[in-house]
Amino acid sequence: MRIFLDTANTDELRQGVKWGVVSGVTTNPTLIAQEGNKEYQSVVQDICAIVNGPVSAEVVVEGVEAMLEQARTLASWHHNVVVKIPATPEGLEVTSILAKEGIKVNLTLCFSPNQALLAALAGATYVSPFVGRLDDIGQDGMLLVKSIIEMFKYYSYSTKVIAASIRHPMHCLAASQVGADIATIPFKVLKQMIKHPLTEDGNARFLSDWQRVSGKNNL
Ligand code: G3P
Repeated sequence: MRIFLDTANTDELRQGVKWGVVSGVTTNPTLIAQEGNKEYQSVVQDICAIVNGPVSAEVVVEGVEAMLEQARTLASWHHNVVVKIPATPEGLEVTSILAKEGIKVNLTLCFSPNQALLAALAGATYVSPFVGRLDDIGQDGMLLVKSIIEMFKYYSYSTKVIAASIRHPMHCLAASQVGADIATIPFKVLKQMIKHPLTEDGNARFLSDWQRVSGKNNL
């Protein structure tokens, strides 16, 4: 499973990329808005300059023609931009047109296996089931990810499954156990994944033990 960062914050992204584990980014209008009054294009292009991988940027208009126009603009900003389109009837139409033009789509706000099936048939490169938001309303978000993966495997669809709306390390682990292609995670979750109190205690003890004999050992 690959890890994308779900962020529009370049400081977080730089750190994640330095760790060598982040191979793409997803943003959404909320995350872009959290970066203040920065221009959408410059935020996306800054992200593309940091990570050499897919960067999802979402359309923020309604209506097929307006969505298509904006999607083409987003895609023109950088060759790594993947256009995020909502899983609506209009979104499906837009996805199938963009796919024929060779523009990569991440069908987002996916909450059912049927939406994912339609995403694959329309030619989406990625589909993003939102795990946390289903959990929020008392449904099993990871079960959705699992169902989609099984369906795509059964029919050998090439659409990749991005487990999204990941809220904690256990979501990330569960996504890997059901075979998600990608988990897109907040930076906070990435930091939580590497942290373990026994690693920290053990490392501190090893270093202090070494201090006692370090005079005899020149490294
Ligand atoms: O990738 C989608 C994600 O940003 C949504 O997360 O926590 O707002 O449900 P959340």
